[in-house]
Amino acid sequence: MNILILGGGGREHALAWAVMQNPKCDKLIVAPGNAGIAEIADCADLDIENGTDVVRFCEENAVEFVIIGPEAPLVAGVADRLRDGGLLVFGPDAAAARLEASKAFTKEICEAVDAPTAAYAHFSEAEPARSYIKAQGAPIVIKADGLAAGKGVIVAESVEQALAAIDDMFGGEFGEAGAEVVIEEFMDGEEASFFVLVDGEKVLPIGTAQDHKRVGEGDTGPNTGGMGAYSPAPILTETIAQQALDQIIRPTVAELARRGAPYRGVLYAGLMIEGGHARLVEYNVRFGDPEAQVLMMRMGAQALDLMQAAAAGQLAGCRVNWAQDNAMTVVMAANGYPGPYEKGSVIGGLEDLPETSSEICFHAGTSRRDGKFVASGGRVLNVTARGDTLAQAHDKVYSMIDRIDWPEGFCRRDIGWRAL
Ligand code: AMP
Ligand code: GLY
Repeated sequence: MNILILGGGGREHALAWAVMQNPKCDKLIVAPGNAGIAEIADCADLDIENGTDVVRFCEENAVEFVIIGPEAPLVAGVADRLRDGGLLVFGPDAAAARLEASKAFTKEICEAVDAPTAAYAHFSEAEPARSYIKAQGAPIVIKADGLAAGKGVIVAESVEQALAAIDDMFGGEFGEAGAEVVIEEFMDGEEASFFVLVDGEKVLPIGTAQDHKRVGEGDTGPNTGGMGAYSPAPILTETIAQQALDQIIRPTVAELARRGAPYRGVLYAGLMIEGGHARLVEYNVRFGDPEAQVLMMRMGAQALDLMQAAAAGQLAGCRVNWAQDNAMTVVMAANGYPGPYEKGSVIGGLEDLPETSSEICFHAGTSRRDGKFVASGGRVLNVTARGDTLAQAHDKVYSMIDRIDWPEGFCRRDIGWRAL
């Protein structure tokens, strides 16, 4: 089978790696890919948010299955176009991708199915939003409705901070994404991510993970796309996972199908866990990055069979063969990230790292220059390992990191601290 993966980060390197483990894959193309992906697959230059271009590329290259990594093409309707063109696609149509593209839409679905989540109100004008904040008090959470690359959420400690966030959002700071604002009750607790595959109707849990969003050790400093992750998430026990499936995820999937927008792909539920109970923080319509890196390392070749079954509406009877293992990934980022950073520094030592089914360095933002790997993004490498215990995975990851020669990069040394 000829397969195309859309995207070019660490998540897509991990997806590509898992797909390549499966003998069913004859040829793999990743667009745009990166220098690490280019070691295992063909990379192609393609405007991945343009459905017409992607459909044409698939016809020209005899592609039979498309896996969409990031949210932007999904929200832009690329999966719709590919399905209209008769292709097998892993990833939801634009109508179902609204679960990530609109926070107000997700809130409305939760309300319709009575799923536990933060109380909220939805505003398109500043004045009523300000009155609501004054009446509710702080802490309180202000969210731009649309996609804002993870930056559209302000957890306000005080009423003043909340009012300032309203001024920013209605003042155009978040562009179109901020034209509508959701204001939410602040939820206390510990966050964890729950991943399920959905084939339009059936739901198959494929794992849990926790990530570290803050740039600094001890989970301090500004938010990032994620500085490291591990799987499984010990806080998401069997009982809590079952409650999240019964009260949040299955009702959401059923409601979307009832509305004529069946969900196909991976659904990532961000949960807040407190007192043995989960509430929904948000949905994403794709794998997490870097959560996919730990999930793919744990799933290996079967990931392709399961993604294909989800895309084809054939998840009934599928199951995941789990090993009793733990995986960890640590992000190496360019100095300065998530603020301004330099591109182009040379990364040494990558060629000598182990590359096995339990140790691998995924590339998130690299390119090649004069035969050497150079940094070309903020998050650059995802050093990933698995072991019988999380402590073993941790030790393998950090011993790989110690062999990488990249003075212009940094990582957190405390990934997994809650679980270790
Ligand atoms: P979101 O983009 O909705 O996931 O929000 C980003 C982050 O903001 C989440 O991962 C949480 O850490 C935090 N957050 C969002 N909503 C809430 C809430 N209602 N209560 C507490 N923290 C929240
Ligand atoms: N690591 C968080 C995300 O992918 O949204």
